Amino acid sequence: MQLEANKRLAIFGKTRKGKTYWLKKHIFEAAKHIPVIICDMKLADFSKVPIIKDLTKFDWNVKTGVYRFRCFCEDDLRKFNKIAWEKLVSSKTRRAILVYDEISVYIENNSLKKFPYMKKLTVLGAAFGIGIWYATQRPAMLDKTLLSECKYVVSFQMDSERDRLAIANYFDPDDIMNLKKYWYYAYNDETGVSKHAPI
Ligand SMILES: Nc1ncnc2c1ncn2[C@@H]1O[C@H](COP(=O)(O)OP(=O)(O)OP(=O)(O)O)[C@@H](O)[C@H]1O
Ligand SMILES: [Mg+2]
Repeated sequence: MQLEANKRLAIFGKTRKGKTYWLKKHIFEAAKHIPVIICDMKLADFSKVPIIKDLTKFDWNVKTGVYRFRCFCEDDLRKFNKIAWEKLVSSKTRRAILVYDEISVYIENNSLKKFPYMKKLTVLGAAFGIGIWYATQRPAMLDKTLLSECKYVVSFQMDSERDRLAIANYFDPDDIMNLKKYWYYAYNDETGVSKHAPI
């Protein structure tokens, strides 16, 4: 799947079906050309990636590489979004991809008002060269604004009907039910739907 750096991307799938594995491959590929900053909410999957201790002291002008900010609570997520917005939008030469694995830990339906900078990053960030990638097991719980902004959507297998119906605009719910482990469908708003073998 060819990805443009400033697009919004959502990745869905039941636990252990391959979301983070997919993310890792694409994160390290993208990071050869653009900095990728993970808002690390799961705190287990990216242990080799260097940690940003202080977001205000981080060099947001960095050109490439993968970095992560450990997000232990809602306030950390708010801080990450606010500083990312201020630093990236203040200079048009700065670009980055922000990755949120397990986004539903903090942001569920209609909870985006608690995260105003997340909304700004998602709705307005593309114009400033900011890419946003979300992953979650529960698309039915994801705030609708986040989902509707996504031009790329990837889905691994999911059993829950509610979750499959939540993304029925992109994929046939039966197709998502019948996917084998590690296989996925990808939707791109320019080229449509395609099925992919394991990475
Ligand atoms: N294409 C693949 N080939 C081989 N192993 C894979 C593949 N995709 C995932 N795995 C392995 O399967 C396990 C689960 O994958 P992964 O961590 O990506 O799941 P996940 O969808 O992110 O689950 P969770 O929602 O629980 O975080 C991992 O040990 C991973 O290394
Ligand atoms: Mg995962």
